Amino acid sequence: MNAARVEHLPSGVRTAADYQQIARQRLDETPWHYLQEGSGEGLSVAANRSALDRISLMSRPLADVRGGHTRLQLFGQTLEHPLLLAPIAYQRLFHADGECASAMAAAAQGGNLLVSSLASMPLEQIASASQQTGGQPPWFQLYWQGERQRTLRLAQRAIAAGYPVIVFTVDAPVKLASLTLPGDIRAVNLEAPLTAAPVAAGQSQVFDGWMAQAPNWDDLAWLRQQIKLPLLLKGILHANDAERAIRLGCDGLVVSNHGGRVLDGVPAAIDCLPAIVETVAGRIPLLFDSGIRTGRDAYKALQLGASAVLIGRPAIWGLASAGALGVAHVIRLLRDELEATMALCGNPTLADIPLQTAS
Ligand code: FNR
Repeated sequence: MNAARVEHLPSGVRTAADYQQIARQRLDETPWHYLQEGSGEGLSVAANRSALDRISLMSRPLADVRGGHTRLQLFGQTLEHPLLLAPIAYQRLFHADGECASAMAAAAQGGNLLVSSLASMPLEQIASASQQTGGQPPWFQLYWQGERQRTLRLAQRAIAAGYPVIVFTVDAPVKLASLTLPGDIRAVNLEAPLTAAPVAAGQSQVFDGWMAQAPNWDDLAWLRQQIKLPLLLKGILHANDAERAIRLGCDGLVVSNHGGRVLDGVPAAIDCLPAIVETVAGRIPLLFDSGIRTGRDAYKALQLGASAVLIGRPAIWGLASAGALGVAHVIRLLRDELEATMALCGNPTLADIPLQTAS
């Protein structure tokens, strides 16, 4: 990245939503639509928001919250707050500094990020951008690469580059959206783009083409054997799948509907969290994403049992608006809102937030 690039924060920004307006003006139609779109009719995108809006917060005045903080331990790392950056593909579509800007922002804010398999910058460069900003090693988001050995080679490259946690995304095996990338932007860490397996006459492009290259539970069991580091699954909505993942030895889950971008009509991810929390019963940490736009939303996920949340589109609104500074500002705004919510709800630390169970 160009270290000489100087960027300024736009004036008058008070919330992540303000960055959405700026990003809308700055981005061309194609990246904007790629960023914002949901699948189908956008039902699950809307459901993520309306479900979070329906959850209320209970204020608890007069609590003594002096000495409060948002610090936590997660997979061996100490994070200043529970707001991680979600893995988002092709970040150079949104800003020339791409994933390195996000890594620097997460590091500067004492948090961390998940780097996508579809990152548009080399994994090693992103890890060193984080390290040079004083951050901890980022986590790697793994997409299945059509077959076992190719998938393992990708994970091993990330592990060799110092990524200490592997997050295996399992909810997006079928490529429904087709994005035409500009010539200079591609998934630089992949050996070659995946294409659907050829199908014979009478076979289905979905079942015998794309899905022939999708992972299954046996592949997960195999992957678990290969990876000695913490292995999380991202994209779990059903409690039975959470149970099966634990039995196969997964170390954590990200409860997520991929921001409403895969199967339109799945429930709001937040509505799936309580049943999974009940099933998992504290055996492994649960992370949450899909629809978080404010620190109050983050608090709602934490009170339902998530240990941390991932921030998707809002971070990219910041990136498109002001590069690393914009992403860092989005994280800070959400953290400020989270702190205020914790204080007003009477909880000085994350551990003090009472668990709301499914009623
Ligand atoms: C994503 N997401 C995603 N997830 C993943 O595991 N690997 C990836 O490469 C991507 N790429 C990606 C691109 C874009 C443009 C978006 C918006 C999302 C999903 C992402 O990690 C996260 O689950 C959602 O973005 C969370 O929802 P919100 O916060 O955007 O509502």
